[in-house]
Amino acid sequence: MRILAIETSCDETAVAVVQDRRDVLSNVVSSQVALHRPYGGVVPELASREHVRQIAVIVQAALEAAQVQLEQIDGLAVTQGPGLIGSLLVGVSFAKTLAYALERPLVAVNHLEGHLFSPLIEHETIEFPALGLIVSGGHTSLYWIPRMEEYRRVARTRDDAAGEALDKLSKAVGLGYPGGPIIDRLSERGTTNAFSFSMPKISDGALDFSFSGFKTAALRHIRQHSILPVTDFSAVPQPVIDLVASFQNAIVQTLAKRTRSALHQFPARSVLLTGGVACNRLLRKTFKEWFEPLGAAVYYPSPCYTTDNAAMIAAAAFPKFERGQFADLRLTADANLQLESI
Ligand code: KG4
Ligand code: ZN
Repeated sequence: MRILAIETSCDETAVAVVQDRRDVLSNVVSSQVALHRPYGGVVPELASREHVRQIAVIVQAALEAAQVQLEQIDGLAVTQGPGLIGSLLVGVSFAKTLAYALERPLVAVNHLEGHLFSPLIEHETIEFPALGLIVSGGHTSLYWIPRMEEYRRVARTRDDAAGEALDKLSKAVGLGYPGGPIIDRLSERGTTNAFSFSMPKISDGALDFSFSGFKTAALRHIRQHSILPVTDFSAVPQPVIDLVASFQNAIVQTLAKRTRSALHQFPARSVLLTGGVACNRLLRKTFKEWFEPLGAAVYYPSPCYTTDNAAMIAAAAFPKFERGQFADLRLTADANLQLESI
């Protein structure tokens, strides 16, 4: 069984050809980072236009990289939501057109389920029950997964997503976009106790995350200490390095503490760390160090399957293909699609 999967929920035009669940024949991602960089974040209108320009080219590139003809595809999978509606519509329309023209079945996939499936691309088996953290520029949510494909959201962010907070701080100190990878690299040279961020307390829904307080505190610190935007990347001032390292540390500590509290309520055998921010080295290290001694194996994908990609959409689609859970041509994109089945 060979699936061509399409992902266009945000600012990556991504297409993958995957065979028999874990054999990724190609995984092509066209990033729009350069297009959105001048604005310090994704501009929805520009994103959808760029998807329109790129989608056919990327499908062709994924087929060529996989050395597969279009007619040799057995089925299509596409991200239905959540995401930016204009971006999602491009992928959904293109996938429906291909499915109709080729007379192949089409499966609709929730983008968040794709992220939660991403560790299964490289690990044949994962022990359930699991706790799955999705931490990206658009999402920060924790799911209880008693069995494969059964999800209950046990925590979410009340304000910014973790990646969004990193991106905003990076912009505020002039370090550029996207901020997460830049802050990850710079923090190696910083001290994490240069600045202390107090953890937010949430009275109802104690497991929920909140990051906007960190951002406000960091902006106040920038003002009080007259920190100017960075202009020379080869000589970033130490106070800026220390601030971003402390900020990253506060986010990592929050994510790890909330996940540890969840683990007390939901005794999982695995913790899945997914979404773009799961590339973060301190986050990966902290999760391994904290959770493996508690008996929960920590799984995170390689970076190419961590940030938005279509191989994870194919991975999540396989069980649906096996069950014959197909979408028809009335399928529409859903910007607010929820992931909750129990
Ligand atoms: O999953 P993703 O590609 O797209 C969304 O669905 O949002 O995640 C992008 C986010 C951005 O906020 C980016 O700054 C962050 O992931 N990110 C990182 C790292 N690499 C990407 N954050 C922290 N450390 C990294 N190494
Ligand atoms: Zn994502």
